[in-house]
Amino acid sequence: MEQSKDMSNSSHINGSQANNIEENIDPNSSDDVPLDVDLGDPVMYYPYWKTVDEECSVTIKASDFLSYFVNPNKDEFIYHVPGFTDAVRRIHRVVGNAVTEGRYIIGGTGSSQLFNYLLRALSSKVNSGTTNKRIPVVCAAPFYGLFGASVDSEKSAMYEWRGDALTFDEEGPYIEVVTSPNNPDGLIRKPVVNRPGEMLIHDLAYYWPQYTPTTAPADYDNMLFTMSKFTGHAGSRVGWAIVKDPEIASMMTTQVFLRTIGCCQEGQLRAIKILEFIADSYEKPPIPPAPTTERLFEFGYRVMNERWNKIKAVIKSGNVFNLLEYRPQHCNFLGTVHNPTPAFAWLESKNGDDASQLMSELKIQARNGAMFGSSEHKKCVRITLVGSEDQFNLLLRRLSSRPASLGIDGVTSFSKLDVNGS
Ligand SMILES: Cc1ncc(COP(=O)(O)O)c(C=O)c1O
Repeated sequence: MEQSKDMSNSSHINGSQANNIEENIDPNSSDDVPLDVDLGDPVMYYPYWKTVDEECSVTIKASDFLSYFVNPNKDEFIYHVPGFTDAVRRIHRVVGNAVTEGRYIIGGTGSSQLFNYLLRALSSKVNSGTTNKRIPVVCAAPFYGLFGASVDSEKSAMYEWRGDALTFDEEGPYIEVVTSPNNPDGLIRKPVVNRPGEMLIHDLAYYWPQYTPTTAPADYDNMLFTMSKFTGHAGSRVGWAIVKDPEIASMMTTQVFLRTIGCCQEGQLRAIKILEFIADSYEKPPIPPAPTTERLFEFGYRVMNERWNKIKAVIKSGNVFNLLEYRPQHCNFLGTVHNPTPAFAWLESKNGDDASQLMSELKIQARNGAMFGSSEHKKCVRITLVGSEDQFNLLLRRLSSRPASLGIDGVTSFSKLDVNGS
């Protein structure tokens, strides 16, 4: 989940609060009710999973999972449900988006939890009591705001959030977070600081074929993945780290024990079922093909691509915002050359005005660009494209009108001139 927010606020339409996600938004709802496209709540996957409810369900008996310790296998962490790490390794092998051979897999309560444990492990490895200096943690702006918010709230003696990596130039050890594709702008990223003392965390929550062409298996020291944006099962709160260094892996699992005595076994069981189901659909497709032959990545890419085509068209005709242009690449998994189709659209107002203000004139509540680490991005705004179909259609409808303050094309309205006194 993202940024603290009153989740119970029912005066906004967000398309994800009810169980029956498909019917949650009335497409003809009053134009006065703000449409909430601020959160990246991945409910667009609902229609896909609905079609396979029967085949892909998990039954948990009353007698299951009474023990804290579930895995006696000495090569595994004892809180990993048997089959969890195998399922993680298998899905990465099938998709070809990350190297797992010879790496440690550490399961956690979403990747958000593991992010903090990785910071702790990396900083204790260099700090190990010899210095009082807190290790700076940076990420190139625009960046996912929860990184900074969660580090700040910890008030750790070991590490501290230092914001934009593009302006960081200190000597000594530091941790750089590289989110690729990036939230909010969907760009593929590399580290930007590149100095001695570098420690990297690669957050690869969106490195899946529905969002970006997967061009090679990611092969970094510390990688984070999550079910949330991959399959849409954000509520199961399952993520994993793929880590090279045994010492880092061991420090992370110690954290999982000290803070939460393992991680939810029901969640892992669900993850195993879903990951195996997806892997099977590519490695062992039924013969003859099932009536629903579309598999997760084809579904995800088709929906994202359709949404991108529509949003590009409406933004272009509105002439109020610019959208980033992406470069097409060959996706090794889907076997086609295509543009990235990121989970969010990152828009910039053409005239440099505060873009979220313009959005609110259209009764669209979107995330202000300044919340992504730099006030320079105030003219930008992020809108989610992974919500429900109803939410997306309403978004298109609202984007097709023009903010009143801009008047008719190319003319700033009088009301705006009055307000600004110029
Ligand atoms: C870049 C990035 N990393 C991590 C997360 C959180 O993932 P999880 O649900 O596994 O905690 C998000 C969620 O929006 C994200 O955008």
